Amino acid sequence: MIPKLGVCYYPEHWDRAIWEDDAKRMVELGLSYVRIGEFAWSRMEPSEGTFDWGWLDEAVEVLGRAGLNVVMGTPTATPPKWVVEKYPDMLAVDAEGRTRKYGSRRHYCFSHEGYKAEAARITRQMGERYGKNPHIVAWQIDNEYGCHDTTISYSNAARTAFRDWLGQKYQSPSELNRAWGNIFWSMEVSEISQIELPNLTVTEPNPAHLMDFRRFTSNQVVRWNKTMVEALRMHTDAPLSHNYMGRITDFDHFDVGADLEIASWDSYPLGFLEDRIPADEDFKSRFSQQGHPDFQAFHHDLYRAVGTGRWWIMEQQPGPVNWAPYNPAPLEGMVRLWTMEAVAHGAEVVCFFRWRQAPFAQEQMHSGLNRHDGRPALAWAEVEAAAKDLSALGELKQLQAPVALLFDYPSQWAWEIQPQGQGFDYFQLLFEFYSSLRSMGVDVDILNARDAKLDGYELVIVPGLFSFAHLDWKHFDQFEGHILWGPRAGSKTDDFSLTKELPPGLRDFDVAVTRVETLRPNTPRPLRGGGEARLWVESLEIGEVETLLETSDGAPISVRSKKDSYLGAWLDPVALKRLLVLELDSLDIPTIDLPEVIRVRKIDGKRFVFNYGAQELEFQGQSIPAASYLII
Ligand code: GAL
Repeated sequence: MIPKLGVCYYPEHWDRAIWEDDAKRMVELGLSYVRIGEFAWSRMEPSEGTFDWGWLDEAVEVLGRAGLNVVMGTPTATPPKWVVEKYPDMLAVDAEGRTRKYGSRRHYCFSHEGYKAEAARITRQMGERYGKNPHIVAWQIDNEYGCHDTTISYSNAARTAFRDWLGQKYQSPSELNRAWGNIFWSMEVSEISQIELPNLTVTEPNPAHLMDFRRFTSNQVVRWNKTMVEALRMHTDAPLSHNYMGRITDFDHFDVGADLEIASWDSYPLGFLEDRIPADEDFKSRFSQQGHPDFQAFHHDLYRAVGTGRWWIMEQQPGPVNWAPYNPAPLEGMVRLWTMEAVAHGAEVVCFFRWRQAPFAQEQMHSGLNRHDGRPALAWAEVEAAAKDLSALGELKQLQAPVALLFDYPSQWAWEIQPQGQGFDYFQLLFEFYSSLRSMGVDVDILNARDAKLDGYELVIVPGLFSFAHLDWKHFDQFEGHILWGPRAGSKTDDFSLTKELPPGLRDFDVAVTRVETLRPNTPRPLRGGGEARLWVESLEIGEVETLLETSDGAPISVRSKKDSYLGAWLDPVALKRLLVLELDSLDIPTIDLPEVIRVRKIDGKRFVFNYGAQELEFQGQSIPAASYLII
């Protein structure tokens, strides 16, 4: 399929008189998709049981007639006031025990059965009305699960559901006591119904208790989504999707994605750089109008692995947003660059958020493709250019990358629960591996650790994987390439205890972690040959293995056998790159030393080169203007 462009549109925000013209201009701009509906519940059903579908019927008709493919959003992220009055206890409760109030969005607890039924009802009603509408080519369920910290809730509904979940998992209080180690501090219970939610304890709760609560919480999102999928499925054959958000890790996207045909995500590169990426001031200033050169790509590669492999950008930043600490405009060229980068990673559709800037309410300072006076905003010309680029490009087929990075949401929860040293963050650890590989021009596929098929990869990297309990060892046993494990990989049982054997406990690989330390930011451990270990350092007991990196006083940090390598530290960028070069060279995987602002991506016999820099740059004999891309 040839990648296409689209836009998010809110007909309910605008005078009916301008819809036709809007639709016509969308098509003229080169857009083929339009997403609507996802927050409009108060207009669809102004009071319980009173429906007004007329305006939405008309909007679909107007957009469809203009030649646009409509993506219909279900409105369950914004339950109107009457729903909240009907179920006052549907609101989520934060870790401090405070009820989160009505008045913005995502004000619901995933465990509230009454609200879930209400949400399934409106979803079903939409399905009945629009499921066979020829203009509607796909659906988006809800909006950005987990955004604004809305996955975890400490409500009464969550407590009841958590106890049920524990009952099913453990069957008896003695089994739960054993698994969690509740003999410690006299935490044993005689009934599962005595288990409380793990908030507001005097000091830290049992990590096993927290880990189960996080698994349960993730599962509530999966269940919730599945209920909505079932509500729609009976009425439509169109593909179902959800729009995930950047760096949201509180629920397992692989599990949610298993029930959907299309994974999509919302890409706000400048907002993310300010808000979600730990980087020094200098770096942030250098990239404030371009975004982090690897953050978008990481998510593209992650979401390609969530679900069926079909993935979209449902919302792409078009100009300044309103929600980050600082909100600069993208450098001229970046909107087109981000669009083409998504395509180079396999996006089927890139939709921009939003068509026209809203003059009212929370997002009045958020730009769109049009200004609020209706005239084109700065991104207009870039979208026009991207549309032309895409039609010239034609269909693109993804290639398998030489390197796979295994990702695992439960490992994120585990190390949030027990960082052991301030700043140990699983996502960040994986992102640094990814970024280092990209800085050497190496394409990476991200795979779900729990069912990764390793066939065809030359190098598989598994940092920080909390427990090996869910690995499918048959894939590893048959794998003919090389595996780089660590740090912390396989160090816990599924019950959040230490493993019986010292980690990593790999067959035919004589290395064992005998001690771990975490280091203050100003006490890194220098390595022989350059670079340093930071934050996390393991003591390794080794047998017949080759040492790749060691500390300046000779302690092994990274070792290698024929099939496996193990890294027992969090490395700074210099050391990480040294290690990866050694590994890649020994596997004959080609690398190039890219300038900080250049990134490349191979797809279907073509190589995209992206210049994230604010200056024109020479690259392999070609000059690439600032904030632009080339195909070579
Ligand atoms: C997304 C959200 C949109 C809009 C946008 C603003 O997180 O899905 O509805 O709020 O951010 O950047």
